[in-house]
Amino acid sequence: VGSSFMEARRAIERKRDGFELSPAEVRGLVDGYLRGEVLEEQMASALMAGYFRGWSFGEIEALTRAYVESGRVLTLPRVGLGSGFGGRAARTVDKHSTGGVGDAVSLIVVPWVAACGAPVAKLSGRALAHTGGTIDKLEAVPGLRTELSADEFAGLVAAVGCAIGAAGPDLAPADKRIYALRDRCGSVPSMGLIAASVVSKKIAGGAEAIVFDVKVGSGAFMRTRAEALELARMMVSLARRFERSALALVTDMEEPLGTHVGTGLEVLEALAFLRGPALAASDARLAECCRAVAGAMLALSLGIQESEALQLLEQAVSSGTALARFEALVRGQGGSWEALLAMRPAEPCVEVVASRAGFVERVDPVGLGELARALVSAGGALAGVVVVARVGDWVTPGAVLARLHGVSDAAGALHGAAAAAESPAARAARCFAIGDAEPPERPMVYERVV
Ligand code: URA
Repeated sequence: VGSSFMEARRAIERKRDGFELSPAEVRGLVDGYLRGEVLEEQMASALMAGYFRGWSFGEIEALTRAYVESGRVLTLPRVGLGSGFGGRAARTVDKHSTGGVGDAVSLIVVPWVAACGAPVAKLSGRALAHTGGTIDKLEAVPGLRTELSADEFAGLVAAVGCAIGAAGPDLAPADKRIYALRDRCGSVPSMGLIAASVVSKKIAGGAEAIVFDVKVGSGAFMRTRAEALELARMMVSLARRFERSALALVTDMEEPLGTHVGTGLEVLEALAFLRGPALAASDARLAECCRAVAGAMLALSLGIQESEALQLLEQAVSSGTALARFEALVRGQGGSWEALLAMRPAEPCVEVVASRAGFVERVDPVGLGELARALVSAGGALAGVVVVARVGDWVTPGAVLARLHGVSDAAGALHGAAAAAESPAARAARCFAIGDAEPPERPMVYERVV
């Protein structure tokens, strides 16, 4: 039963004055809002009061529960998919990244983990701000569908071992409405609200085990390690309240993760990874992040040690089973594997070069993420940025820093806001800082929350 208008006002006043709302009050607000009895301005005020006062774990748990129970909760088959793995029962597993640039991890780890015997039921989203979205990337493959019905999604997980679907309108619909309201009213960056929003969709998606990849750094929504760690702990604790096993990693997002930034370009990078045997050194960070995430997913799903999981993962690439599972995923969702194999980065291509010698001190992920999105919207799915020079590299004048696909400098500036007068190459060049100091090495994985 949702709150009435008067009950909602009392709850808003209590939140405004710094009191903790009871689970019944939180539930009343959400249910009343969905029924139209709690008004838009009331819900917006409650969210903003919480933005300033902060949310207790109890309030966030109640909010998550209200989101989950506002829609359908999928039940997925609990099957051991074998692949010579002793028929051991495996938990269905999902992963979530809080968003990054050049973050093709989902495209890689979903078939990779499935090839090792763990069913993967991955719900994904679209691009947000400068970060990419897995759904947009997959749609670069001709024919591939991500709008899967609940039955189709569960059927693919059982038959193929993995599926990547867009969260449909029946999963956590309260989150969808409240997320849009937060977006209009400036209460998106509230940590508890982010945790409730993310975790509710994962719970509704039905996976029994969840790995959260919380990105931290200038290209992430969490800028400090302390914030990222707090969000990681909150999401793991929340998932456990719903009887799901969960683990979180806090990983680096100070520079684009992989070398390819775009939609189709990231699919090509995933394909190269799954083909093995080894990516170029410039992709070492992507490989490390994928191993950490895939190892955690497999360990949670199969109940094995991560060292054993990593061995299985190596074998799956070298034997070709990971690549075969990617093909099965693409075909299972209606995509053309042949068309994918024929995909090439868009031409023409402009090279961005260094104007001086020095160490690459910084590669701005936000600038390159925004540029890649602009290139894709102007030049199609195979346009985007390929980063050549990585942080810590020594470059000489004229060395290639990046390649911009699907654009010629003669084409001039991309339409759009602030940088309207600037050519894409000039925009890209500004994203590379070259100096005399060798930058310190950064770890890939900062924290593990178990
Ligand atoms: N992604 C979500 O799904 N929800 C948020 O609140 C923020 C990012």
